[in-house]
Amino acid sequence: MHFHIITLFPEYFDSPLDCGLMGKALEKGILEVSRINPREFTRDRHRTVDDRPYGGGPGMVMLLDPLVQALNELPSGCRKVLLTPKGNPLDQSLAARLAGEDDLALVCGRYEGIDARLEELFDLELVSVGDFVLNGGESAALCLMESVARFMPGFLGRQESAGEESFSSGLLEYPHYTRPEEYAGLKVPDVLLSGDHGRIAAWRRQRSLENTFRLRPELLTSPLLTPEDLDFLQGLQRTRPGRNLYLALVHHPVKNKMGQESTTSLTNLDIHDIGRVCATYGLGKYYLCTPLQDQQVLAGRLLRHWREGSGAQANPDRARALSGGEVVSSLEDAVENIESLTGRKPRVVATSASGNGDLDCSQVLQCLDEDPVLMVLGTGYGLSDRIVQEADNLLAPLRLLGGYNHLSVRSAASIIVDRILGDFA
Ligand SMILES: C[S@@+](CC[C@H](N)C(=O)[O-])C[C@H]1O[C@@H](n2cnc3c(N)ncnc32)[C@H](O)[C@@H]1O
Repeated sequence: MHFHIITLFPEYFDSPLDCGLMGKALEKGILEVSRINPREFTRDRHRTVDDRPYGGGPGMVMLLDPLVQALNELPSGCRKVLLTPKGNPLDQSLAARLAGEDDLALVCGRYEGIDARLEELFDLELVSVGDFVLNGGESAALCLMESVARFMPGFLGRQESAGEESFSSGLLEYPHYTRPEEYAGLKVPDVLLSGDHGRIAAWRRQRSLENTFRLRPELLTSPLLTPEDLDFLQGLQRTRPGRNLYLALVHHPVKNKMGQESTTSLTNLDIHDIGRVCATYGLGKYYLCTPLQDQQVLAGRLLRHWREGSGAQANPDRARALSGGEVVSSLEDAVENIESLTGRKPRVVATSASGNGDLDCSQVLQCLDEDPVLMVLGTGYGLSDRIVQEADNLLAPLRLLGGYNHLSVRSAASIIVDRILGDFA
């Protein structure tokens, strides 16, 4: 693999390419590196490589011509990467794919960046090393080179190391330990001293799953998860804060078509479907809030039928789905009930299709680590203003940008719960 670095600071790479595994790989010829300085292609007395931006504003922009000439020096068929914060994130799978190239050019920007027309003149692949801004593309290029080089045969001492590292299997890595066996009272896990390779491999797999589950759950979508992995993850999930999340379906006070405060009737479909969402995501209870006595009686009968009666025998899954449902007279009763169950007053979060809200779903997830959260959903034409004003927070609406924004309350419940908890939160 030959890296061609296009940079205004070729000396930047001296030390990183001189030491450690990168230095050895260059010595052994596993890697080759050329540095091409666009300044070499300037023709004016000052060897100018930048100029002020059209349209004004701070900083300088890299000139096209020196860069075009530098890129024209590349061998034909060379894949070209432009390091830029707006690029695709660099990850292990991109590094592995780039490792298949014979020639790879890395274009490093400086100042405010590069004249945008360079991207029209060349087929450049935009790559970012993270959502932050560096002084120049050189340190980003170094990250990319190291991550790619680790996939080159002969680069690592033991070739299997690259496959065992974080991300290679779609998971974060398990923890490592070395001598001494005990330090400041902290012992190396017994299993690692057992000499039992099967147990050690199983322990490492579980720690990998656990680290990924706790630190980067979004990575756990890999089809590489085995049935044993899923069993283990389900065990972990049962200890998660989903149970700290409660739903209330409010039938009074809600708005009617004219915006006046009113009361709605219970809806069989909502009771079932929201119950199924709660069971699927392992939520705490869900409350059906209605002050109407006949509706309370009706809801009680319905729940009993599915939880204990012939409904439960015919459909045990439905019994489980409705097991978390409870009929209460008001939202205040739901709050009191959660307080009596958990010993803590829940944070009450109202929902609405309008307004900006002051909390989004990822912030609700963070709140769940501290206190129970009661997510309040309105029926009819939405929660009354009174409920929204008295709530601790208002959730940001699900579709800020769409023109049409009229979801059924059971659809909204599903989307909100999934955005908060997802599959593994
Ligand atoms: C000071 S930055 C320019 C930032 C640019 N004005 C912006 O807001 O996106 C100079 C150069 O550093 C490189 N760079 C900065 N941050 C980077 C990142 N996160 N990933 C990859 N390259 C980066 C790019 O080559 C960029 O042209």
